Amino acid sequence: MKVLLVGNGGREHAIGEAIKRSAHNPELVVFANKNNPGLMKMADVYELTDDLSNTDNLKTLAEKEKPDFAFVGPDNPIADGVCDFLEGMGIPAVGPKKTVARVESSKSFARDLLVKYDIPGAPKFKNFENMDGIAEFLNELGEGNYVVKADGLMYGKGVKIAGEHLMDFEEALEYAKECLEACGKCVVEEKLVGVEFSLMSFTDGKTLADMPPVQDHKRAFEKDKGPNTGGMGSYSDANHLLPFLTQQDMVQAQEISAKMLEALHKETGEYFTGILYGGFMVTKNGVKLIEYNARFGDPEALNILPILKTDFVDICRAILDQNLISIKVEFENQATVCKYVVPKGYPDNPQKNAELDFSDFPEDAIMYYSSVNEKDGKVYTSGSRSIGVVGVANTITEAEAIAEKAVQSIKGNIFHRPDIGTQSLVESRIEFLKNL
Ligand code: AMP
Ligand code: GLY
Repeated sequence: MKVLLVGNGGREHAIGEAIKRSAHNPELVVFANKNNPGLMKMADVYELTDDLSNTDNLKTLAEKEKPDFAFVGPDNPIADGVCDFLEGMGIPAVGPKKTVARVESSKSFARDLLVKYDIPGAPKFKNFENMDGIAEFLNELGEGNYVVKADGLMYGKGVKIAGEHLMDFEEALEYAKECLEACGKCVVEEKLVGVEFSLMSFTDGKTLADMPPVQDHKRAFEKDKGPNTGGMGSYSDANHLLPFLTQQDMVQAQEISAKMLEALHKETGEYFTGILYGGFMVTKNGVKLIEYNARFGDPEALNILPILKTDFVDICRAILDQNLISIKVEFENQATVCKYVVPKGYPDNPQKNAELDFSDFPEDAIMYYSSVNEKDGKVYTSGSRSIGVVGVANTITEAEAIAEKAVQSIKGNIFHRPDIGTQSLVESRIEFLKNL
């Protein structure tokens, strides 16, 4: 068996490992736009392209390698229709087609479906194609109580929040104008207050198999200070809930995802296959939906894939056969903590080409390469998150200790968030919800 993996980040390193762990012993062919030393080591074929959405290069590789199926990791090739393209070539692809991937690539599309199909969890919102009515709607929401979002994929930088990035109506109007110029549409919505979590599910378009929920940390610095990043680290708990998250909250999130899956099919006639990833928030008025993504989260995949008990390739095949209902997707009852090591200055002004020394990396932690360069056996930072380090243990506290020790063993001009997964940070989430 041969599997084609599109992508080369930390998330794809974890996906590649899950593919290689399979009892089917698959060969791994990677279509990448950068070197990933971890993936390169395990790949049978590692093909570089200028762009993951370059279908000419992809076609050449696929015709030569003839994979049994493909897995497409990142948001951009999915939104550009790479899964449609592969299917057109007769290669089944795990990942949604372009039309249903709009649940991530168009925020107005996702919000409209909530209303049209009566799905719970939406904040108050309105979509706009020009400035008419934006000032009135901001006024209706009230000063300090709004969020302005660009419609399309903006590398995690398309959302601006009152009180954090937008200090008054003027700034909100200015940003709405920028969004309209950038992608022709924007969403203005109520600012929600609560604690966020990610719920990712495998799906064949009909059945959802949920993964344990994860909490990511988007801000660059300790105590959630500093600019937004791709995600500095994340944790999951052994009981497949989170310390601040009740079973009832999980049921609400699961219900929103199930209704969204059905709505996507009704709206487009296409089944959403792959990973449906809901970004939710527990608020004092129940679980609300922040956004959907059409792929694995990064870092969330780094938490979840190491504790996946079921054969990943079997799950992929069940998704492609639209028979996910026939297999039981199981995870170890283990807690996980992931911490990303990033270059000093990240995300605004990251130091590139700083050497990383892993010689003291302990054996009990897992290391995933993300955005790094390798030259003459040495590894250097590039612009983005460098290395994802994961601890797996019986409790979050023990997993944190493993991850923290491993992160501290890495030498270089780097930083990380020591607070992710610590008892005090986890408890502060519980306290915050109590006081809402
Ligand atoms: P997104 O780009 O949709 O992932 O949004 C980025 C971040 O913006 C989310 O993780 C939330 O922290 C925040 N956010 C988005 N929408 C809202 C909202 N309606 N209320 C509060 N925070 C939000
Ligand atoms: N964890 C954030 C993301 O993957 O979008």
